[in-house]
Amino acid sequence: MAGAQSGMRGSLVGYGDAEFSLFLRKAFIKGAGYTDDVLDRLVVGIVDTGSGFNPCHGNVPQLLDAVKRGVLLSGGFPVEFPTISLHESFSYPTSMFLRNLMSMDTEEMIRALPVDAVVLIGGCDKTVPAQLMGAASAGKPAIQLVTGSMLTGSHHGRTVGACTDCRAFWGHYRAGEIDDAEIAEVNGRLVGSVGTCSVAGTASTMACIAEALGIALPGSAAPPAVTADRSRIAELTGRRAVELAREGLAIDQILTAEAFENALRVLLAVGGSTNAVVHLAAVAGRLGFSLDLARFDRMSRETPVLVNLKPAGNHYMEDLHRAGGVPRVLQELRELLNLDALTVTGRTLGEELAEAPPTFPQDVIRPRTNPIYPTGGIAVLRGNLAPGGAIIKQAAASPDLLEHRGRAVVFENAADLADRIDDEDLDVEPEDVLVLKNIGPIGAPGMPEAGYLPIPKKLARQGVKDMVRISDGRMSGTAAGTIVLHVSPEAAIGGALKHVRTGDVIRLSVADRVLELEVPDEELQRRADAEQSTSDTAPRRGYAKLYADQVTQAEEGCDFRFLQAETYRGSVPRR
Ligand code: FES
Repeated sequence: MAGAQSGMRGSLVGYGDAEFSLFLRKAFIKGAGYTDDVLDRLVVGIVDTGSGFNPCHGNVPQLLDAVKRGVLLSGGFPVEFPTISLHESFSYPTSMFLRNLMSMDTEEMIRALPVDAVVLIGGCDKTVPAQLMGAASAGKPAIQLVTGSMLTGSHHGRTVGACTDCRAFWGHYRAGEIDDAEIAEVNGRLVGSVGTCSVAGTASTMACIAEALGIALPGSAAPPAVTADRSRIAELTGRRAVELAREGLAIDQILTAEAFENALRVLLAVGGSTNAVVHLAAVAGRLGFSLDLARFDRMSRETPVLVNLKPAGNHYMEDLHRAGGVPRVLQELRELLNLDALTVTGRTLGEELAEAPPTFPQDVIRPRTNPIYPTGGIAVLRGNLAPGGAIIKQAAASPDLLEHRGRAVVFENAADLADRIDDEDLDVEPEDVLVLKNIGPIGAPGMPEAGYLPIPKKLARQGVKDMVRISDGRMSGTAAGTIVLHVSPEAAIGGALKHVRTGDVIRLSVADRVLELEVPDEELQRRADAEQSTSDTAPRRGYAKLYADQVTQAEEGCDFRFLQAETYRGSVPRR
């Protein structure tokens, strides 16, 4: 039962007369066709991110039905409400530019509406981070439900799925290895159904992370979007949301330092997306934690990749589901986890694992004694080119390029890259290092996933599959290659990257965690003095201005400064 200030009696509009506010609200409740009974129910808000522009959320109508069923079966009153929905292919200039806007929308609607708990239905890359950021700031009881992964497809007898295979086939096409007819044919095979990308891209990674954080139900990350498992999880999520409302279990009791450490472990063990580092930093920042990249790197050295998922491995999310999903991954990581972390079920992670389904032989989730990759999927680099840090997904890189010295071939921005990368006269050799500037948080803006620089066509035709590539941008979690990302500070705010010139020598050593521009400091300073720009291209109005004024660098999560928690609670990992 709802109390005097909860359910539909809560969060009354400020007319200065609470009784009148309730009187008006009741009139509209009646107008919507409900009886007074709803006034006595706990209200579970359900964030509806269904959108005609978001195929990754194409099953949201079914999930809404199932969540509502669960809420009603538990005696609550379910009410869905819309927020912004972001899809990677339908968010100009890039979904990352809009993630913080979605988080603000989510936070303020949770705060404004009379909800006692909220179910966050998200899935596509930026949606789950945005929802967790917003819900963390709003502070009401919350539970995450992901839409689930799409089904795989088949092309000439080979299993394919978005988006690792999208990139692989596009690479074959650019290299002239497949023709127009085949690239058109495979285009219709890559996305087998609604749902999120079927590999360890950002969406899958964030789904696994949500479960590891304890903010989603055990076993809820991996079931594909169109399965009965997914619907049952949605019903159970609705049921649990009512209990959360009754218990008043606050989100900051779940999203603790211990939980973030568990999430970082799982990110490493699933060979997950580099984007998740940025997103976790942002979510943690909403609760007063900073991400310590040096400690994260230490954690990476002792956390092997266990999950054989593309792009670092061979399998797809549906295979992870059949192999036991995240509970099985957590069981394999057990000794490395904070088992006392409280989860959204009201029980600790250790208590949940004690009741996890029995294990069985499978080849998707390896034991720590026989990992896919001996250390974590992601390494943190530092050096004069990235004093604020840079990262590389080493598990998806070419082993022979992890230690490399090469001549920089520099592109000033994404437009320059598009203009020249396929120029037959481009002076570039396979051992060169491709450098792309000005695709950082402010530079592009929105830190687009343009860090996956294409191999110049003339080299691709020679059979070159990988080169060292460096930028201040991001790349899709579905991509593979020896690609250094998130160089900080970014070029647009005067980071060292800004001063790299074609012909400079760059040293990458993943073993030493070094990214070094072999140019003397005095020369870099001379370039900085000479390159001081007087042009002012900063946005002057609207969200773009807010973004440019407030966005932080990658290591702080690219959140807006004014959205971060006011009270600092320490760094994660804690050691
Ligand atoms: Fe939505 Fe990949 S495009 S998850």
